[in-house]
Parts: sequence; structure tokens; C-alpha cells
Amino acid sequence: MSQFLESLKNRRSFYALGRDVKLSEEEITELIKDTVKNSPTAFNAQSPRAVVLFGAAHEKLWNIVEEALKPLTPAEAFPNTQAKIAGFRNAYGTVLFFKETDTVKNLQEQFALYADNFPDWAEQSNGIATANTWTALTAAGLGANLQHYNPIIDEAVAKEWDIPANWQLRSQLVFGSKEADANEKEFLADDERFRVFH
Ligand SMILES: Cc1cc2nc3c(=O)[nH]c(=O)nc-3n(C[C@H](O)[C@H](O)[C@H](O)COP(=O)(O)O)c2cc1C
Repeated sequence: MSQFLESLKNRRSFYALGRDVKLSEEEITELIKDTVKNSPTAFNAQSPRAVVLFGAAHEKLWNIVEEALKPLTPAEAFPNTQAKIAGFRNAYGTVLFFKETDTVKNLQEQFALYADNFPDWAEQSNGIATANTWTALTAAGLGANLQHYNPIIDEAVAKEWDIPANWQLRSQLVFGSKEADANEKEFLADDERFRVFH
């Protein structure tokens, strides 16, 4: 099996994450930067943006999520929500992925023929950068899971880290040391997903 395929297979949703991480923050940051930079984007627009949170900043994010969820969650269910959020907070760091929205508008003006495609392509470009980062972190020995607490945290996140107005939050990739295996995963039968013609 190629090393690439092995890395793809090893990328799973790891929810039990800790802080027993051997890589330095600088090494992890460089890995994330390199991965996002080398991920393809439509028209090479490079619309994905990433903010890497470690330490107190990472913990602050999950405090923001907890605060945002409190008024939206029935009181009796909130302890479970708090426990789930604590799981994310116990991890080592979080990558916030944003989509730079001016890029889409500019491309739509520049290439009217493809105008309808650019919003989708920007989302796809974010997805590719995110999935590649997830795989790269896993290949470096870490575990990660992907969360979507946007848009309820957008305002607080923008305020806390001075995020430009044209950066739209799309996802949160939580990472850390793997403290437990991923769950079993089922696959659809190949004949439901693939067709080959000669
Ligand atoms: C676009 C996308 C959105 C996802 N959103 C979430 C999410 O909000 N919360 C979560 O726990 N997992 C989320 N996941 C993880 C999927 O549930 C997971 O990848 C899938 O069940 C397959 O499991 P695996 O990651 O272990 O291979 C998301 C995955 C993708 C690709």
C-alpha cells in the first residue's frame, strides 16, 4: 500500500484527545501552513484561511463554544454538552478554518461565465485544505476531529482574535495526542459508489 493511501486510511475522527504531544508548536504550525499552502484552490484563488490556536487560546475557543451553547441548550441537557466541550478543550489545539469572501466576489466579477460556481468552489477548496490538514496531522502521529460550531461562535471568535470581516468561519479542527482508538467505521458496498467502464 502506498504511504499516501496509508495516511488516508489512518485519518479518522479521534475524539479522545490529550496533550501528550511530542511535536513543538512551531513544527505543528509549519505543518499546517505547508499543508494549506499546497492544497489546490479553484483558479488558484487561495481563499482558505487558517488560525491555529494553542494553549490558553485553544481553551478560550472552547469556553466561547460552551458560552454560546448555554442559552441554546435545555438546562437538563447542558451537563452532557459541557462534558462534550470539555473533551475538545482537553485536546492540544484547534485550527479554525475560514473562507475569504472577497475572493469569491472578485472572481465572480472577473469571470462572469463561472459566477455561479465560485461559491461552491470556495467551499470545496476549504474542504480540501481541511481534509489535507486532518490527514497531515494524523500522519505526524496526532489525532484530530472536525467540528462546526459556526455560526453561533463567529462574532465572539472574530472579536477575540481580531478576525477580518471578510474571513468567514467554516470549521474547527481539534487536534491532540490520540488517547483512544477511533470508532468502527462501515463502508457502503463498492458497487453502490463506483462504476468502471472500458
Ligand atoms: C464535511 C464534514 C463535516 C463534518 N462535520 C462534523 C461535525 O460537525 N462534528 C463531528 O463530530 N464530525 C464531523 N465530521 C466527521 C464525520 O462524521 C466523519 O468523518 C465520518 O463519520 C467518517 O468517520 P472518520 O472521520 O473516522 O473516517 C465531518 C466530516 C466532514 C467530511
